[in-house]
Amino acid sequence: MTKTPVALASAAAMLAAGAAAAQELNLICSADQAICERLVQEFEASHDMNINMVRLSSGEAYAKVRAEARNPQTDVWWGGTGDPHLQAAADDLTAEYRSPMLEELQPWAVTQAETSEYRTVGVYSGALGWGYNTEIFEEKGIEPPRCWEDLLDSSLQGEVQIADPNSSGTAYTTLATLVQLMGEDEAFEYLKKLDANVSQYTKSGSAPVKSAARGETGLGIVFMHDAVAQAEEGFPIEVVAPCEGTGYEIGSMSLIAGAQNPDAAKVFYDWVLGADVQSVMPEAGSYQIPSNANATAPEAAPDLSELKLIDYDFAEFGSSERRSALLSRWDEEVGGVANN
Ligand code: F6P
Repeated sequence: MTKTPVALASAAAMLAAGAAAAQELNLICSADQAICERLVQEFEASHDMNINMVRLSSGEAYAKVRAEARNPQTDVWWGGTGDPHLQAAADDLTAEYRSPMLEELQPWAVTQAETSEYRTVGVYSGALGWGYNTEIFEEKGIEPPRCWEDLLDSSLQGEVQIADPNSSGTAYTTLATLVQLMGEDEAFEYLKKLDANVSQYTKSGSAPVKSAARGETGLGIVFMHDAVAQAEEGFPIEVVAPCEGTGYEIGSMSLIAGAQNPDAAKVFYDWVLGADVQSVMPEAGSYQIPSNANATAPEAAPDLSELKLIDYDFAEFGSSERRSALLSRWDEEVGGVANN
């Protein structure tokens, strides 16, 4: 009766609120947990959307997206090394999208998009190296390794950790880097020798340097920015860029083909490529180089222009054939040895 207009208005408001509350976004995040949580927090604070986030290493994320191909449960896959994103693109698991934000991005981020026919895009970049615990090295009288070759020294027996390249993009980048630096057969010979010094192959790429920081191992082969993060937290970690040269990642983001929430996914995609968002990431311990050219790179981030970077062939090492073949060979020749 008299309450009709008000009742209608509040019913409309309730419907609107209901619709807003129903807006969900399913995100796989392949960077560190703290960074992933910070992104979710920032996005939810500025949008009427709920993010269901799962943190998975790059290779695990690829496997999940692949397993769900017929019935995708994920809308966006943010972060993680670019190779598995490129493989997902080649396998038609991810959707083409030309974000209006592309024009604000660094050339390497745009090249990543072009390589994949706009099925992935660069979100950050960082180079490989290692971090070692200075206290352990001093205590044990170990000479700090400066080159890939030095990592084979017998003084490092049981002191090295690196991730498994099947689960970890960091470890796959290491494998692909060594193949590009040395040649494939030589790289596998190297990895078999290195295995004598490896105490553990971890699931996540940054775990080895977190263990080194806490004194559980002497050295972790990781992205340099992950070693910097531990040093910035106050742990006795020294960061090394290998003397022979090193590889790097173009951390990437992809929209999943056939996703249930494609519009929400694009809102997130455009937002996360913004300079403001990328500039706050160091607060969560993220020391990569941001892909938005207007974002502020963290002061402690390794300066890639000062490093001897290889001309990493992303198209080749992100191709389905090459990545699958290298991982199978690693399982047969290195992983198998480690698991015995
Ligand atoms: O977030 C840190 C980070 O090193 C990223 O730069 C990288 O893309 C990701 O982790 C790789 O993680 P994983 O080796 O576990 O796949």
